[in-house]
Amino acid sequence: MSKVLNVKFSGFTKPEGGTAVVLVAKGGVFSDEAAAVAGGSDKIQQLIDASEFNAKLGTTTETIVIDGSYKKLVLVGVGKPEKLGNDDWLRIGGAAMAAAKNSEIHATLCLSDQVVAGDEAADFALGMMLGNYAFNKYKTQKDTENKKKNVNINICVADVAAAETAFVEAQATAEGVIIARDLVNEPANILGPVEFAAEAAKLEKLGVKIEVLTEKEIKKLGMGALLGVSQGSARPPRLVVMEWNGAKSKEKPVAFVGKGVVFDTGGISIKPALGMEDMKGDMGGAAAVVGLMHTLAARKAKVNAIGVIGLVENMPDGNAQRPGDIVTTMSGQTIEVINTDAEGRLVLADALHYTNERFKPRFMINLATLTGAVMVALGTQHAGLFSNDDELADQLYDAGQLSGEKLWRLPLAKVYDKMIDSKFADMKNSCGRLGGAITAAQFLKRFVGDTSWAHLDIAGTAMDAPDSEYSKSWANGFGVRLLDRLVRDNYED
Ligand code: BES
Ligand code: MN
Ligand code: ZN
Repeated sequence: MSKVLNVKFSGFTKPEGGTAVVLVAKGGVFSDEAAAVAGGSDKIQQLIDASEFNAKLGTTTETIVIDGSYKKLVLVGVGKPEKLGNDDWLRIGGAAMAAAKNSEIHATLCLSDQVVAGDEAADFALGMMLGNYAFNKYKTQKDTENKKKNVNINICVADVAAAETAFVEAQATAEGVIIARDLVNEPANILGPVEFAAEAAKLEKLGVKIEVLTEKEIKKLGMGALLGVSQGSARPPRLVVMEWNGAKSKEKPVAFVGKGVVFDTGGISIKPALGMEDMKGDMGGAAAVVGLMHTLAARKAKVNAIGVIGLVENMPDGNAQRPGDIVTTMSGQTIEVINTDAEGRLVLADALHYTNERFKPRFMINLATLTGAVMVALGTQHAGLFSNDDELADQLYDAGQLSGEKLWRLPLAKVYDKMIDSKFADMKNSCGRLGGAITAAQFLKRFVGDTSWAHLDIAGTAMDAPDSEYSKSWANGFGVRLLDRLVRDNYED
């Protein structure tokens, strides 16, 4: 795992070397504490004037300092402080990290007429940790830009104890997001289903109960849809069940289910070559579930949570499944495989049914890089949200706004459900391009019974999404912060 930084909180002290970071609001407003740390308000004022700094949120300006107790001064713009919320503190932290590069950081979190709360300071630190992430393990000639040291960071705040308490959770969150990013960035030759399962099994150290089901056990359960996808690959499938019991034992669990296609060639319905390398990230849903379970366990969340991930590789081969094949799912329902590239829903059909039957969860939320169609509809700024439960959908929407991992709800309806009826089986796995994200969701819905459920189509958001101040990696770990927020705000005792 990529290193997480050494963060400490203190009251307002003088920096000793390194980079001093202070906040500046719109109109060039900064606090007395910032002036004291910088060694005089004129230092800050001169820099604002010389660089014509407009203090827009997330922008920075900097100067070297030759006569101070530190070497570089960085101003970070916070825009209008009264409006700060959602992921703004993450953005401010990420911007500070980028400007400070590899030097030690002494950041003063103080606004002139407003106290920076403990959870805001923790979000600032989280923004730094996530902004510092780089996946560079395969760069043998490491350039300086990619080389991030394990730097010391001191953050000055008004309420040190509150910041420290909130930081325990921020640290757990950073670790979870970084695990998800690492898994998605890792190429498929290194990370097959077996290797992915071994990564998930590492959560055992945090007190998560782990079961790794082998191909034989998956067969015995009758997961014909998941196995159909896997049968063209030389590498066997795995189903991993993770259990975190942080609440009372009789409390019903919440469940998270992830699509874990370690590589999606499309199978016999093979994809075009252009951009196919991105399909190493087709396990972004499963990666988010592992990252989330890490975060919940690391911060000892007071919730009972289940994570289930279906791990397969979708390959063309003499033994691969064909268009027209009919498979029988664990639920007993049959599927005509029209297109072997609509494989994610086949994997999830069995994983969702299994999770529902075995755990009778309070709700199931699945994450999947499921359709190109959702990218056509929503681009890279929102993930698609589908749900049979308005309350759960609203909670998810709110968690999306607060975390910055935004969702937009799309409809489910009988007319769409009819579109996946098959001539030869109970349903077909593909029915053309119209409403492609919706018909995929309708397909999943047939495997969740009456359980409260939501499907997040993260094809456009989990990888190759636009950079932000705190996310500069191809894989951004989408879903971990969103669902941690959902649990924290609604499902803990
Ligand atoms: N993994 C892909 C969806 C995808 C595409 C994710 C681009 C991320 C980026 C999925 O398995 C797939 O191939 N879906 C097909 C479904 C179609 C055959 C019904 C698609 O979207 O074209
Ligand atoms: Mn596919
Ligand atoms: Zn896929």
